[in-house]
Amino acid sequence: MKAQILHMEIRPAVQSDLQAISGLAMSAFGVSEGPEIVQLIADLLLDATAQPVLSLVASVDEGIVGHVLFSKVRLEPPGRRVSAALLAPLAVHPDYQSRRIGGRLVAAGLQQLADAGVDLVFVLGHPGYYPRFGFSPAGIKGFEAPYPIPPQNADAWMVLALHPDVSGNACGRVRCADALAKPEYWRE
Ligand SMILES: CC(C)(COP(=O)(O)OP(=O)(O)OC[C@H]1O[C@@H](n2cnc3c(N)ncnc32)[C@H](O)[C@@H]1OP(=O)(O)O)[C@@H](O)C(=O)NCCC(=O)NCCS
Repeated sequence: MKAQILHMEIRPAVQSDLQAISGLAMSAFGVSEGPEIVQLIADLLLDATAQPVLSLVASVDEGIVGHVLFSKVRLEPPGRRVSAALLAPLAVHPDYQSRRIGGRLVAAGLQQLADAGVDLVFVLGHPGYYPRFGFSPAGIKGFEAPYPIPPQNADAWMVLALHPDVSGNACGRVRCADALAKPEYWRE
């Protein structure tokens, strides 16, 4: 692991950050995935069904080097009132990876969501990365992804309960924001 960056600030993204966030996403995801992720970020920020979004950037002297976005999701059938969010996407500039920037962005986002009363956070991501924040497979807990996840990637669909009493009482199909409602985003 590389040394942590001492002078890093995590703050809410503002509109004028969008270009830097897009450049960062291109660097992190590369030419094949980058353009789609850049479009997804722009779409989610404007998508009424994604609100409220939580968009955080990690900034150092050189500029923005990390970004995470959380968007609103709903559980179907709507029963008990459960507030839920989805983490996607997360990106750290390749020159700054493995310095805990991704970890600090995720932790800061989860804390802010918990403070805002969000109960559950979902992610479709690397099963080797997200369990360190407390995420665990969501399918076996009864949470269906917006689109079927291929069985070999079932562990990539994960959930974290921000309030301990919630996950045992909630289950159902997760309905994501319109901007994320494309089967190609759910193949992992
Ligand atoms: C995944 C990503 C956000 C992690 O950011 P980061 O700042 O490097 O992460 P941290 O420094 O907090 O954590 C580093 C750890 O994550 C692990 N890690 C990084 N990418 C990983 C992956 N794809 N799968 C599993 N583990 C991964 C590293 O091995 C390292 O592990 P260690 O702590 O045991 O040494 C960053 O690598 C990235 O932007 N990747 C490209 C885009 C991407 O895949 N985004 C996530 C999907 S939306």
